Amino acid sequence: MNLPDMKKAKERTNKEVKYEELNHEYEEVFKGKKFFLKTYGCQMNVHDSEEIKFYLTSLGFVETEDMNDSDVVLLNTCAIRENAHDKVFGFLGRCKHLKREKPDLIIGVCGCMPQQESVVEELMKKHPYVDIVFGTHNIHELPKLLLKNNSKQDIEIYSIEGDVYENVKYNRDSKYTAWVNIMYGCDKFCTYCIVPYTRGKQRSRHLKEIVLEVEELKKDGYKEVTLLGQNVNAYGKDLNDSESFANLLEAVAKTNIERIRFVTSHPWDFTDEVIDVIAKYNNIMPYIHLPLQSGSNRILKLMGRRYTKEEYLTLFNKLKERIPNVSITTDIIVGFPNETEEDFQDTLDVVEECKYDGAFTFIYSPRNGTPASLMKDNISLEEKEERLHRLNEIVNKYSLINNQKYLNQTVKVLLIDKSEKSDTTACGYTETMKLVNVENAIDRIGQIVDVVITDAKSFSLNGKLK
Ligand code: 5AD
Ligand code: SF4
Repeated sequence: MNLPDMKKAKERTNKEVKYEELNHEYEEVFKGKKFFLKTYGCQMNVHDSEEIKFYLTSLGFVETEDMNDSDVVLLNTCAIRENAHDKVFGFLGRCKHLKREKPDLIIGVCGCMPQQESVVEELMKKHPYVDIVFGTHNIHELPKLLLKNNSKQDIEIYSIEGDVYENVKYNRDSKYTAWVNIMYGCDKFCTYCIVPYTRGKQRSRHLKEIVLEVEELKKDGYKEVTLLGQNVNAYGKDLNDSESFANLLEAVAKTNIERIRFVTSHPWDFTDEVIDVIAKYNNIMPYIHLPLQSGSNRILKLMGRRYTKEEYLTLFNKLKERIPNVSITTDIIVGFPNETEEDFQDTLDVVEECKYDGAFTFIYSPRNGTPASLMKDNISLEEKEERLHRLNEIVNKYSLINNQKYLNQTVKVLLIDKSEKSDTTACGYTETMKLVNVENAIDRIGQIVDVVITDAKSFSLNGKLK
């Protein structure tokens, strides 16, 4: 089978998205039509969906939460583990059904999955009812694809990244907290990870563009920004200028926006300068997501993580010493090929030592095209599940212990939404990224309020306004 020509972009250049060219040409065609957008995966995908929503609404579409009522169904997909892949193909079955009833329905698949040739092939062979397919490097092609759509599958993927787009507009999900991309892609090539293949090599935005975006957000009333990158500490390494994450963080702090967060940090690039900046500015939140992946030096080496357990612990302890009250969460993979009970025990030891505020834990999932997927593995799934269970018990124990330290304390919470708890309860986050449900606070959404913590669970706190 011939795959469609995957366009190769050139060297990294900065480009502006020209929105004026979009609007009028398409307005009559799409006005009042409805789209249903389902997003899988990480914050990067959530933010990409905010861009997709901007395009769709500027073309005249309105969003619907009811797929059956839509004219366009778009799935923004994730490729990080096999179960994400399976969920998408499962959902496509429902879309196919709907298309039988509504033959004009346009079905689109975008995001990380189509950046893999095997997925494009699978879509072409087994899912011809999917109308449009595009990847993570050409979201801005969506309007063209929608208009061109002519009952033939339209596939438009750039296999190689290149341009960094500025002046990108978003329909942001929140009026108070905003994602800000500081870079795209990743150069780390951890041996298990598909991201460098789906999102491409690292491309940083220029510092001044990022600061401008944060200033605009502040002007628009945003209270919090989260700087987004696969590996934020490596920010600027691909630029010729002397732009570093420490410089960027300091420049963003000086905008005086009330809260700054960043994800994700790789321990390898975490410099003392970055720690100094976090410690110096009150508006940089004392919360760090610092993936460990494994506590075994043998496995870390096989994973290509470039640090030892000892180096990780040194950094961890430095962060705890230098940043008062810092909360630290992590990612851990169990069942990497041939992880022994001893290797796993090393991971548990690190978790016991770090007593994380929280951890995302995963069973290793082989990804086509990554070096780890070629490694033979003799450990059964049953054993891996059992390890995950043991790990989660310890992780949850420490989450609860850490949360209980907040009992009767007064903390600052940025309220962002209604809570599912009751009609009068709002929810938000502490500076340390703890989720708090606050009674009788519905009219304070959008504000940073003082809250007394009355109850602590493993995954959330309850409190009342002070
Ligand atoms: N299998 C399982 N977990 C993975 N992650 C990345 N790739 C894989 C994989 N192939 C996890 C890592 C990463 C998080 C976002 O997902 O822990 O930090
Ligand atoms: Fe994947 Fe490693 Fe890059 Fe994170 S740092 S996105 S785990 S390759």
